Amino acid sequence: MKILLTGGAGYIGTHTAIELLNAGYDIVVADNFSNSQPESMKRAKQITGRDFNVYEMDIRDKAKLEVLFEQEKPEAVIHFAGLKAVGESVEKPLDYYENNLDATFVLMRVMEEYGCKKIVFSSSATVYGEQDTMPLVETMKCSACSNPYGWTKYMIEQILRDYAKVHEDWSVVLLRYFNPVGAHESGMVGENPNGIPNNLMPRVTQAALGKIKMLGVMGNDYPTPDGTCLRDYIHVVDLAKGHVCAIRYAQDNNGCDVFNLGTGVGYSVLDIINTFEKVNGIKVPHEIVARRPGDLPMAYSNPAKAEKILHWKAEKTLADMCRDSWNWQQKNPNGY
Ligand code: NAD
Ligand code: WQD
Repeated sequence: MKILLTGGAGYIGTHTAIELLNAGYDIVVADNFSNSQPESMKRAKQITGRDFNVYEMDIRDKAKLEVLFEQEKPEAVIHFAGLKAVGESVEKPLDYYENNLDATFVLMRVMEEYGCKKIVFSSSATVYGEQDTMPLVETMKCSACSNPYGWTKYMIEQILRDYAKVHEDWSVVLLRYFNPVGAHESGMVGENPNGIPNNLMPRVTQAALGKIKMLGVMGNDYPTPDGTCLRDYIHVVDLAKGHVCAIRYAQDNNGCDVFNLGTGVGYSVLDIINTFEKVNGIKVPHEIVARRPGDLPMAYSNPAKAEKILHWKAEKTLADMCRDSWNWQQKNPNGY
């Protein structure tokens, strides 16, 4: 079975490509490299010893996407392509709504045209918004998102749900990722943020490397055990394996379903820094700074549904996440 990975050259896409190839699937990638490099695909081929075609294209270009479907005949799609920087989405809402929504519309139209009826979508824990209780569970009513990026995920989920309601022979799997971190254990592929990263783990690795002088711990007066925010960090290889399970599920089941992909455990910012320092034997210069506006005190998943239905469970530890992030950063101080 051949699977199209839109945005497959990105951080999560590359790791998923590797796991799908290792599981025996064929793949094809479409990416405009707006936030990635072709090198990630070369390395995925090296790691797996398998070959696949990579189409450099914006998936909003319907004619080009039709050519891809004509040539490759994918039977399922994992739809990673999208812009993902929360802060930038506040500055440039139209870019985010336009790219993320149009890409989905064009993709769905071309899938319809070619009778490709299985889609796994990269959603996000951000769709839960602020909730009164933890852990976050799929049955919760999603509340208001705090930024346009989050709304694009919320809207795309709804669009796909509506579509699946009247197309009963389709299989739609919505995956709500928590906080992906870490890298492939080879250190050959990993997260490669453009410019100064926003997310915690790449900032930790860059602070350890000296590229960032001082890591700011954004707030230590939250109602959490050590006062810093709690998040459900998940190793990107575990997350990638979740996609293999989602594809297996989509092969056998029609309809639309949604799954959290998280570990179920909340770690604090200081837990991350302390574990990173301990497992890697290196200091992460840090200081407490002001809270970042919009940050929630805590967000962690109940991952039981994915375990029960997708037969998937995160296996890697926080130490694995810290070790593999550092291994990748050390081997690739300037990214790909
Ligand atoms: P990424 O930026 O590394 O990968 C996204 C890829 O999509 C990039 O390679 C980019 O070049 C490509 N792309 C964007 N718009 C495109 C378009 N119109 N046509 C073709 N290619 C396009 O991001 P990632 O971290 O790998 O995330 C993958 C998906 O998972 C995204 O949809 C993201 O919103 C979602 N997600 C990510 C996180 C996270 O923290 N990394 C958390 C939850 C959800
Ligand atoms: C984690 C924690 C910060 C940087 C974001 C998106 C979310 C999802 C994943 C896509 C927070 C703290 C951070 C720093 C810090 N992406 N922090 N110093 O905000 O949980 O989630 O990425 O869907 O939608 O919002 O992740 O890694 O930015 O922050 O103290 O320099 O680290 O306050 O508590 P977040 P993050």
